[in-house]
Amino acid sequence: MIKKIKTFCVLFALVLGVWTINSCKKKEKELDEELFELAQETAGFVWYKNSSSLLSKSNGSGHPQTFLRTRYNAAAATKLDANGKITANTIFPEGALIVKELYENSTNVSRYAILYKKSDSPSADTKGWVWGYIDANGKVAEPASNKGKACISCHNQSDNIDYMLMNKYFP
Ligand code: HEC
Repeated sequence: MIKKIKTFCVLFALVLGVWTINSCKKKEKELDEELFELAQETAGFVWYKNSSSLLSKSNGSGHPQTFLRTRYNAAAATKLDANGKITANTIFPEGALIVKELYENSTNVSRYAILYKKSDSPSADTKGWVWGYIDANGKVAEPASNKGKACISCHNQSDNIDYMLMNKYFP
C-alpha cells in the first residue's frame, strides 16, 4: 500500500513538472507572438527625426542588415522632441514600444528589432525592457525570454538614452 502511494506521488510530481515546463514555454512563445503583432502595427507611430526614409546602418551597428528606420508608438513618442529625436535623460514610460525595421535591400523589411517597456513581464530586464528580434516571416531570431542577453552589452554603451542608440549614431 505504502509503495503504491509512493509510486502515485512520484508520478504526480512528474506530471506536475512536465505541465509547469510546458506552460512556461507556452508563455514565452506567446510573448514573442505578441511582440511580432505589435511590431507589424504602424498606425499612430512617429518616425525617428519625423522621417520614414531608410537610413544606412551606422558603423556601430550590431545589426547585419544594410538599411534601417526606427519608429515609436504613441507612449514612446511622448519622449521625442519637435525634431523627432529622443529628449536627453529620458526614461521611457510603461507601454513604450520602439521598433527598428531592418532591411537587407531597399524594398522589403527583413527583421524587426523591438524594445517594449513592460516591467511586469517575466522576460523584462532590470530596466523593464523586453527585447524582441523577429524576422518579417515571424521566425524568432532571439527569444524575448533571453532578456536581451545578445543586445544589452552593446546598447549599454556610453551616451545611450534608456538603452537607445539612434540619437548617438544618427545625431
Ligand atoms: C554591437 C552593438 C549592437 C548589438 C549587439 C545590438 N544592437 Fe541594436 N542597435 C545598435 C546601434 C548602433 C543602433 C543604432 C542604429 C544602427 O545603426 O543600427 C541600434 C538600434 C537598435 C534599436 C532602435 C532603437 C535605438 O535607438 O537604439 C533597437 C530596437 C535595437 N537596436 C534592438 C536590438 C536588439 C533586440 C538586439 C539584440 C538581439 C540588439 N539591438 C543588438 C547596436 C547594437
